[in-house]
Amino acid sequence: MPKMTFIAPDGNRLEVEAPEGLSVLEIAHRNKIDLEGACEGSLACSTCHIVVAPEWYDKLAAASDDEEDMLDLAFGLTSTSRLGCQIIMKPELDGLVVTLPSATRNMMVDKK
Ligand code: FES
Repeated sequence: MPKMTFIAPDGNRLEVEAPEGLSVLEIAHRNKIDLEGACEGSLACSTCHIVVAPEWYDKLAAASDDEEDMLDLAFGLTSTSRLGCQIIMKPELDGLVVTLPSATRNMMVDKK
C-alpha cells in the first residue's frame, strides 16, 4: 500500500496509507485530517489547498487552468501549492509529503 505524509502547521507529521485512485483530499478525510474541501472536489473552492514538498511537486500531473484559477484565491499561496482534491494517488507518488498551510484554520486532528 502506498503511503503519504501530512505535515501539520505545527510541524507534526502523520504518515498514512494512500490507496491508489484516491485524492489527497479523500485520504486526508479518511484519516480525520482536517482539510476542509468544501466543494468536495468540484474545483469550486480553494479550501483543500495544500503545499507540496518541493521534491514532489514536479512528479505531480500539471494543474489544470481551472485549478490554477482556484489556487489564485487560496490564502497563503506558495510556488508548490496545489489543490488536494486534484492530486490523485498513484504508485509513483508513494511517499508523497504535503503540508497543511498555516494561514488557514486547517488543523491536524490526532486520530487516537
Ligand atoms: Fe473544492 Fe478541492 S475541494 S477545490
